[in-house]
Amino acid sequence: MNAAIRAVVRTAIYNNLEVTGVMSGYSGLLDCNFKKMEPHSVSKIISSGGTILKSSRCPEFLLYEGRKKAVENMKMNGIDALAVLGGDGSFHGADLLGKEFGLPVVGIPCTIDNDIYGTDFTIGYDTAINTAVKAIDQIRDTADSHNLLFFVEVMGRHSGFIALNTAIATGAESVLLPETPTNIDQLCNYLETGRRKNKTSGIIIVAEGDEEGDAQEIARKVKVKLPDYETRVTILGHVQRGGSPTSNDRVLASILGYEAVMALLKGIYGVMAGRINSEIVFTELKETYRKRNKINEGLVDISKILSA
Ligand code: F6P
Repeated sequence: MNAAIRAVVRTAIYNNLEVTGVMSGYSGLLDCNFKKMEPHSVSKIISSGGTILKSSRCPEFLLYEGRKKAVENMKMNGIDALAVLGGDGSFHGADLLGKEFGLPVVGIPCTIDNDIYGTDFTIGYDTAINTAVKAIDQIRDTADSHNLLFFVEVMGRHSGFIALNTAIATGAESVLLPETPTNIDQLCNYLETGRRKNKTSGIIIVAEGDEEGDAQEIARKVKVKLPDYETRVTILGHVQRGGSPTSNDRVLASILGYEAVMALLKGIYGVMAGRINSEIVFTELKETYRKRNKINEGLVDISKILSA
């Protein structure tokens, strides 16, 4: 997100605009928690994760009265347009600001889950999977040396992007996703087939939102059916949400931050700036939270074939 903030600030100032940073998301609009941004305010942030502007949930913003107050505060502080970094919830709020009060808004897709409609990749996703891949490569060393079956839980409450692509990149034996049915018997049969082929260890990637349970629960269910397997569980958790961003994420954030400001200058509002097949695409905000980016289920089969 910092790389996107930097791009918004520098592009706007280059185009002779004044830039105000809103602290803590929509809460900052309600509390007038604003920070004047200069080119140097965003120096050296491109290499750090998270957001220098901070983030928070804001229940008051769900109400019309809250949004009205936000727009009044913006007007009083000379803010004419808004670039919103976030996911579907933030874009729903941004859409309402545009529709109810005519505020020019543009969204920039930021989530590690990669499930926002209107862009091939969201900002943060590439960094998250690279973090997961590095961690699982390290886990693999222990799994191999000690003949262990690891269940590794990655983030994705509703989305299997991180799990699926991490599984392919690490050659995991199996991957369990919220989007596809999980069958514990099938998983056990698959593990047994592997054992007959002399596999002595394994990695099962579990997306935290899998309908059969989290990694602990799935490990427990497998252990009941295959009691002689030595199992371990690792939950990667929030390490996936931070850290120095990859070059792909920095480039994507820089391009989308730039395009968001250029869109506002050209009078293109109520949209999210995304990138599809390397082209900039503007998608109506309404579409971005009504639809979802879906995983390619064909990749599940590829992952299986390659790890056999
Ligand atoms: O929204 C993105 C996400 O990464 C989900 O995949 C995950 O469930 C959630 O954030 C975890 O964040 P927290 O527990 O801090 O709300």
